[in-house]
Amino acid sequence: MCGIIGYLGEREAIPILIEGLKRLEYRGYDSAGIAVFDHDRIEVKRCMGKVSGLENLFKTGRNSASVGIGHTRWATHGRPSEENAHPHTYEGVAVVHNGIIENYLTLKNELKSRGHHFSSETDTEIISHLIAENLQAGLKPLEALRKALAKVEGSYALAVLIESHPDILLAARNQSPLILGLGNGEMFVASDSPAILPYTRQVIFLEDGDLVQITQSQIKIETQSGASPSRPIHTISWDDSQAEKGGYKHFMLKEIFEQPQAVADTLRGRISVEQGDVFLEGLEDRRENFLSAKRIYLVACGTSYHAGLVGRYYFERFCLLPSEAELASEFRHRNPIIGPETLMILISQSGETADTLKALREGKAKGCPTLAICNVLGSSISRMADFTLYTHAGPEIGVASTKAFSTQIIALYLTALALARDRSLVSPAGTKDKIQELLKIPQLIKKCLGLDPEIQMIARKFSGFQNFLYLGRGINYPLALEGALKLKEISYIHAEGYPAGEMKHGPIALIDREMPVLALATHGEGRDKIRSNIEEARARCGRVIALVNEGDEEIAERVEETIAVPRTQEELQPILNIIPLQLLAYHIAVIRGTNIDQPRNLAKSVTVE
Ligand code: F6R
Repeated sequence: MCGIIGYLGEREAIPILIEGLKRLEYRGYDSAGIAVFDHDRIEVKRCMGKVSGLENLFKTGRNSASVGIGHTRWATHGRPSEENAHPHTYEGVAVVHNGIIENYLTLKNELKSRGHHFSSETDTEIISHLIAENLQAGLKPLEALRKALAKVEGSYALAVLIESHPDILLAARNQSPLILGLGNGEMFVASDSPAILPYTRQVIFLEDGDLVQITQSQIKIETQSGASPSRPIHTISWDDSQAEKGGYKHFMLKEIFEQPQAVADTLRGRISVEQGDVFLEGLEDRRENFLSAKRIYLVACGTSYHAGLVGRYYFERFCLLPSEAELASEFRHRNPIIGPETLMILISQSGETADTLKALREGKAKGCPTLAICNVLGSSISRMADFTLYTHAGPEIGVASTKAFSTQIIALYLTALALARDRSLVSPAGTKDKIQELLKIPQLIKKCLGLDPEIQMIARKFSGFQNFLYLGRGINYPLALEGALKLKEISYIHAEGYPAGEMKHGPIALIDREMPVLALATHGEGRDKIRSNIEEARARCGRVIALVNEGDEEIAERVEETIAVPRTQEELQPILNIIPLQLLAYHIAVIRGTNIDQPRNLAKSVTVE
């Protein structure tokens, strides 16, 4: 949560910081702020709400500062307000922070007892006070930062400006993402790469405990203990245009329509029809770890957890392994019986979700081999796991996850297939059949996207309801959860996803004319049973929208609206089924006039527990 950016170079910093913050707004948008130099003084501007409000504050007056820091906030400590907006300054030290300082109250009381006064309710403000105290005691900037952070417990990604040292920028990372961007005569620090992609693709991923001093020509990285670690320079393959809307009204819509390409990119170089084989780079070297697995745990949050629920079917069906999908936020509160024979698969678009990261740590501590399925190169989860399979979906900016879901499912399918092959549970001919079907998926997604005008009409009809029930069975059950999640998060309609077989055990009491029921009734084991559930809902005046396969007239005749998707193998059908559910949620939200790319109270990366 929260996005931070810093710039040091020769260009005007303000437009770079504003543009960078707009690209980081998916991480939080409760307030925004910037600190830059104005004739050797630090000038701070902050406002409630979005970066566009901050931009307006800079419309009058000119400041050609070429060093600055910025922040877009997702409130944790202290309500969203101008006083609580970052940067927080004290005695010539300005700080922007993403994370949580857990012992801030103790530190704040200590500082107060030494005569410090605070102007915000945030945990962050103590950092500017601590650094300022250390500078006043005569320490050099990096030492002042080091000494301040030695007292701090918790997570942070920080960028710091010091009035007495206008030619440097300080930064530090612990358990919150932070990258450095290396430009030509200019340097950047940011929470995520889209913020700096217009200027450079050369980046350094900082590690926990890193402290950095940046000048225009040099980056000095040290650890808390004073060592100088070597941090490689990586080249980001994402292209800048991928982080822009490209003519679409919203990032979410763009990302829904990018799915044929995103799925093709997940598959690229990983399958061969001729050889009837799957190649997962790097995984081959660690086969032993994965082969000895007697059990699979898929751990994730939100949409990624729903992908994990789909993945569970693959590992059970293809690999004949007991498989569990677990919410990362709950996982650690039990006593999961895991160890070296449990393969833990962590699924995360951002690779920064705090709960998933903690679950990964716990899995590693208990000796589990770990595999991450991630989209963001160099993210914390991808670096900590034994092995990472990247989804290569390109940047996902819309807060509601779309292409991440379909590409995660593809990655899980490939992993299960590779494991089944290694266990001799699938023949080359069987693998070949599956690969041939996989190759058709991008084209079939395009067909599903062609349903958009029909779905808009359905959205018009149903946008006024306050509740929705999504029902699915078997592999379509996670889709019911995901369809409902999409609707609730962007349209604010209360929507529940339910296993259809459970309907009679309670939720049927809710069904009346005011309760639209979206039934996932594509082919497979559950299709006939869900047809009966549809009848039961209709008998109680429920208004049923059925998602069926093309040509399924039997169900079409019995429901108010039908959405017909092409047919593929049952295991791959979720990737097609999710497309109309994403579009339906999107169009309902458009009609209701909500903020689609940045729904209220949400942030894209949940980096706090
Ligand atoms: C929903 C959504 C969230 C994320 C969840 C996990 O549309 O985006 O539920 O799926 O916060 O995020 P990652 O995948 O980044 O770990």
